Amino acid sequence: MTAENGNLYKPHIVTVTEVWEETPTIKTFRMVFDDPKVGDNFTFKAGQFGEYSVFGEGEATFCIANSPTRKGYIECSVKEVARMTHGLHLLDVGDKVGFRGPYGNWFPLEEMKGKKLMFIGGGIGLAPLRSLIQNVLDTRKDFDQVDIIYAARCEEEFVYKREIEEWKASSDCGLCLAVDPIPDQVCGDDVRVSFIPPILEEMKPNPKNRIVITCGPPIMIKLVTAKLEELGWPAEQIITTLEMKMKCGLGKCGRCNIGSTYVCKDGPVFTYEQIRSFPQEY
Ligand code: FES
Repeated sequence: MTAENGNLYKPHIVTVTEVWEETPTIKTFRMVFDDPKVGDNFTFKAGQFGEYSVFGEGEATFCIANSPTRKGYIECSVKEVARMTHGLHLLDVGDKVGFRGPYGNWFPLEEMKGKKLMFIGGGIGLAPLRSLIQNVLDTRKDFDQVDIIYAARCEEEFVYKREIEEWKASSDCGLCLAVDPIPDQVCGDDVRVSFIPPILEEMKPNPKNRIVITCGPPIMIKLVTAKLEELGWPAEQIITTLEMKMKCGLGKCGRCNIGSTYVCKDGPVFTYEQIRSFPQEY
């Protein structure tokens, strides 16, 4: 999308049309472009992100959490952690937000066609995966088997509970839910009490014609990729998305670089093969 009036930093105005309280600290916002022409022409791909501004509070990047196949709006899911996200959490239906984007690269959907897909998400890391999951489920016949493994600290911290119920009831995808094995953990019968690596050890997913797409806390990604490697998975068949440290979203502020790689321009989607080549301190 071209920048408003040729100014890279000038956002489009969007209006909040729905708000969902996902967990005590995470909300999802649906927003619609005020200018219908901008809204009609807006396109993006699963995996891309936007720069959202709360007027008077600041701006921050968040992935676009809905699928490009679900048109007419954009959604983002935000954890309240600091001033800008606190300001965003105070917004309600009818309030205005600034939006720039879409930015960054995207998941290689074309390469995924005909293949088995396994999504592995942790906590709010399900947000960027959700865009791709919706896209895949909306064009289901293009893909082979689809499985979703989703884990959080406890059931209360599951995001997109309404969609999880749909996935549970659907024959279009397999679903495995898990919560951390912490003391006094209480959960439903259909939820495993386990970290993800032991689940993978049990499932032993065959890498043949299959791609894993994972996103979650860094420690989860680290342990998941280590387990997949142990199970014989080639690094190029493991895809993840990084969103940390981004500020401008435009390759200009220099906040997001890992060595010579800019997460905002070269990513945020990377294969594990690419991530393995990043400098050690990452
Ligand atoms: S976010 Fe500013 S350079 Fe990447």
